[in-house]
Amino acid sequence: GDRRAAGAPQDGVRHDMSVWVRLADDPPGPVARLLPDLPAGRLTDGVVTLRRLAPDDADALYRLHTLPEVVANRVPPAPPTRDWAERRCHLAEHHWLAGRAADLAVLDATTGGFAGGCALFYDEPSTGQAMLGYSLLPEARGRGFASRAVRLVTDWAFDIGLARLWAGTREENVASRRVLEKAGFRREGLLRGRLPGPDGTRVDSVLHAVLATDRPAGPAR
Ligand SMILES: CC(C)(COP(=O)(O)OP(=O)(O)OC[C@H]1O[C@@H](n2cnc3c(N)ncnc32)[C@H](O)[C@@H]1OP(=O)(O)O)[C@@H](O)C(=O)NCCC(=O)NCCS
Repeated sequence: GDRRAAGAPQDGVRHDMSVWVRLADDPPGPVARLLPDLPAGRLTDGVVTLRRLAPDDADALYRLHTLPEVVANRVPPAPPTRDWAERRCHLAEHHWLAGRAADLAVLDATTGGFAGGCALFYDEPSTGQAMLGYSLLPEARGRGFASRAVRLVTDWAFDIGLARLWAGTREENVASRRVLEKAGFRREGLLRGRLPGPDGTRVDSVLHAVLATDRPAGPAR
């Protein structure tokens, strides 16, 4: 788990400690990772490339998450601080190692430029279910990047053994619903008042999901 501010102060700042424990009667050998590293450190289809979010992405991530249309999809729907963006980028490797989230930068495979973010939150390891979220910078939209990124992450998630991925969208977010549909997600229902909205309101969320067994049978990827 995490021990908040338990680390010795460095330059006057106390850091959280991530705690790992091994017991004498634990089985020998390394523990299986819930979220293994990406093959060769990235996923790509030649058009988009996904790699783990890194500290250098903080500026771009902050810009992305302060766009009004991205803020509208945040929980709660409020812009983050710059500090939040830095922390999220710095902790991405830790969260991956701990099996909590695969937090990814979406890059234009041709230029290598930051196009957006896509994150798999492993919210229910006991049942093999994870949630997907994504957003793109405005200049990267309308080129199929989001659909490609979601497809790549979905295939990877099923390759590493997850059983079910889900994502929620607001009903009016037609682009996002289409992205999911193109990656094989199906609409499963409407979750009424699922998310906190502006000014104390609640917002409905359309539930979409795709199962590992929805994929066409074929040779292992
Ligand atoms: C959602 C988002 C990632 C989609 O990005 P994008 O670049 O449009 O995605 P893609 O190009 O991969 O595909 C979008 C699909 O939706 C369609 N689409 C986009 N806007 C649409 C609209 N207003 N009405 C109908 N279809 C629309 C596109 O035509 C495309 O489908 P097609 O390939 O069949 O033509 C982007 O709009 C975004 O970052 N929005 C803000 C954050 C957000 O909403 N994130 C998701 C939270 S659930």
